[in-house]
Amino acid sequence: MTERLVIFDTTLRDGEQSPGFSMTLEEKLLVAEALDQMGVDVIEAGFAMASNGDFESVKAIAQRAQNAVICSLSRGKKADIERAAEAIKPARRGRIHTFMSTSPIHLKYQFKMTNEQVLELIKDTVSYARGFTDDVEWSAMDATRTPLDYLCQAVETAIKAGATTINIPDTVGYTTPEEYFTIIRTLKEKVPNIDRAIISTHCQNDLGLATANSLAALRAGARQIECTVNGIGERAGNTALEEVVMSIATRKDLYPFEMGIKTEDITKLSRLVTSVTGVGVQPNKAIVGANAFAHESGIHQDGMLKHAGTYEIMTPESVGLKKSNLVMGKHSGRHAFRAKLEELGFTLGDNAFEDAFNRFKDLADRKKDIYDEDILTLVDAGAQAAAPIQFRRLRLVCGSVGEQRADMVLSVDGQERSTSEEGAGSVDATFRAIRAIVPHAATLKLYQVHAITQGTDAQAEVTIRLEDADGFLASGHGAHTDTLTASAMAYINALCRLRARSSEQKLAYTAS
Ligand code: KIV
Repeated sequence: MTERLVIFDTTLRDGEQSPGFSMTLEEKLLVAEALDQMGVDVIEAGFAMASNGDFESVKAIAQRAQNAVICSLSRGKKADIERAAEAIKPARRGRIHTFMSTSPIHLKYQFKMTNEQVLELIKDTVSYARGFTDDVEWSAMDATRTPLDYLCQAVETAIKAGATTINIPDTVGYTTPEEYFTIIRTLKEKVPNIDRAIISTHCQNDLGLATANSLAALRAGARQIECTVNGIGERAGNTALEEVVMSIATRKDLYPFEMGIKTEDITKLSRLVTSVTGVGVQPNKAIVGANAFAHESGIHQDGMLKHAGTYEIMTPESVGLKKSNLVMGKHSGRHAFRAKLEELGFTLGDNAFEDAFNRFKDLADRKKDIYDEDILTLVDAGAQAAAPIQFRRLRLVCGSVGEQRADMVLSVDGQERSTSEEGAGSVDATFRAIRAIVPHAATLKLYQVHAITQGTDAQAEVTIRLEDADGFLASGHGAHTDTLTASAMAYINALCRLRARSSEQKLAYTAS
């Protein structure tokens, strides 16, 4: 019988906690719903103790999830465990994921604890968590820099105390496939009660080895993989869900496992995460990059025309990438628009559909041909429609001579506010106008513009990154046929994320 793998997604926890990737509650709900529908087994929805916002989002996701187990992270502290338990309470199936470092360097410098004290803490906290749910995961933070004998002892203690999943994180992205294989194999062979728990992987990508390490662990006996959409996460990120899932699906000869994942949802999920975080993926990113299925060289194109299998190891359709010739325009009606949305993987409710259709008509008045990339920006704009600061109008006086002025109208917390500001140029005047209406101290760290499609009537897509006084980064993006309007929208989008974040002080999850 083929064994079933557990796919554990931590986009909303490990992914969201990295600089510039924050998401609002509404955005987290959208991502969680898509993950749930895609067939992810466990959704790590956040770290409930980190802030009230995290607590509320774990709880809201727990209330809505139909299939997946909903999990909250928790440090090895009783107060954290109680908060996690409270947040996952509404879930059909809930998990508490508690962790403690085991490596000498962490214990000596960060936690100032002895090995024995840590074993006691594991026993107490895991058994405490089991008092709230039967599904408890315990992680040995920095496991890959922990002496193996001690790691075995810690794992045995956690299982004895009731842990049902044992996670062996490569917290600092230091291990290699061979070494990670040996660690997992040793645990399988030496820990007497190991059969009572599922072994899990959690690999950071500091050396670019996260996916390879996760796959090596599978071969050694791990049966849960922790991963994130687009590989987002701390520093260089985490194992990318799309990479590990498609490796397993494509190389069944090496990884004969079953998964519950609808791989056709991968492209849609990737676009959704890009859209809500405001951070895109590089064009050559495996599986979801714009070039992942583009065959440019002559010899490859020749082979592809003769037989797609010559240069294609998986089909674009298997990850939900559909190439269609259906270009939309101002004569396209509701029916065609809905069909196009569905083809791109979006099923919108009636109100959201009407809003998107109105934005489509508005765009079609400004732009002759509407491509798939344009449609994605319309759906994205829908996700921003409930934001507390919203763009209304912008009129610019600009050029190579004379004054440079922006007349701007925004809606702030439901009230229209306007201003007229001068600047060194049109961009400066536009951003000054936003600052005049919504005073803030954040500084601009990134301003990037690119044309979504070809032609002079193409929409400009602008990405903005702002940094607040505490060093917190927020990204935002906007798209419009007018570059300055797109810039204003992107700035406002980033500002909304900063405001959402600064209304609460988050705990650093690694703090003792
Ligand atoms: O990287 C890490 O060690 C973690 C654990 C808390 C799972 O994120």
